Amino acid sequence: MPSRPMGGLAAASATTLLLIAVAFAQPADSPPEEAPRDPPPAGLADRMKDAALISQGEKLWQDQCTHCHGAKAYPGKAPKLRPRAYTPDFVWDRVHNGFRAMPPWKEVYSPDEIAAVVAYVLSDDFFP
Ligand code: HEC
Repeated sequence: MPSRPMGGLAAASATTLLLIAVAFAQPADSPPEEAPRDPPPAGLADRMKDAALISQGEKLWQDQCTHCHGAKAYPGKAPKLRPRAYTPDFVWDRVHNGFRAMPPWKEVYSPDEIAAVVAYVLSDDFFP
């Protein structure tokens, strides 16, 4: 009787058991893979029509965002923004906390400065 198939099977189940053991070896209270995301400031949506905030945000956009998101950015570097599809909280979250290849700006800009760029992106003035 050939012993190889049984040996192969035993090896396969040993591997499976090992994988299961590794999967369960994580401590139950291990931190989640992603860092916690800071929540947007309260009342953000109410500030979106503030003209001074919008023009402050436009400058920030020109300085920091156009080289990835602007019309002249290298194609494929970052998605074309679709402001109509966004809420203020969504844009604030992406800009403040970052997301995948989108860099976080929380160490660079205050929550108010981020509110300014959000107001600009969601304004009628927005022109990538
Ligand atoms: C280094 C290039 C880079 C810079 C600079 C950058 N972004 Fe991004 N951004 C990205 C990439 C890449 C994504 C797509 C992330 C994903 O969904 O995987 C993204 C996603 C976003 C999204 C979400 C788009 C969507 O439809 O899901 C918003 C909003 C955004 N960026 C705004 C900004 C703003 C505002 C700035 C300037 C403060 C900025 N980005 C600067 C690369 C960049």
